[in-house]
Amino acid sequence: MQAAFFAEREGASSPLIVAALLHDVGHLLHDLPADAPDRGIDDRHEELGAHWLQARFAANVCDPVQLHVVAKRYLCAVEPTYLGQLSAPSIQSLGLQGGPMSPDEARQFEQHPHFCDAVRLRKWDDAAKVEGLVTPYIEHFAPHLDAAAKLAGAAE
Ligand SMILES: [Fe+2]
Repeated sequence: MQAAFFAEREGASSPLIVAALLHDVGHLLHDLPADAPDRGIDDRHEELGAHWLQARFAANVCDPVQLHVVAKRYLCAVEPTYLGQLSAPSIQSLGLQGGPMSPDEARQFEQHPHFCDAVRLRKWDDAAKVEGLVTPYIEHFAPHLDAAAKLAGAAE
């Protein structure tokens, strides 16, 4: 909710606001225990989430969701202070997710059509850990869900 709130506040498009709202839906789509990372298990929630979203939205929603973990690996490689700003769970999962990108991987990632959206989403995700911050109710984001779904329908 905070990630979507920040996306909307920055004037992001409806699909990107929806991506921010639903970027961690993959955590709800598996039966792994919540402490999976503690046990050395990567839940691959970005893949699960993107796959689930593909039946409902276009690539402008699904790709930033699929890439939000890779974007963390990218930012660790290109922004020297980034790693130090991550939450403890994000640092813990980073190792399971492949660690910081190599320079070659980073250059390749920059060529992805939704690279910028993925990085923006990642930064909202990282910022969306403010205890007690009041956000709009979920219903507030319904028009963005409708708009993103319509865009997906138009693209078919
Ligand atoms: Fe995530």
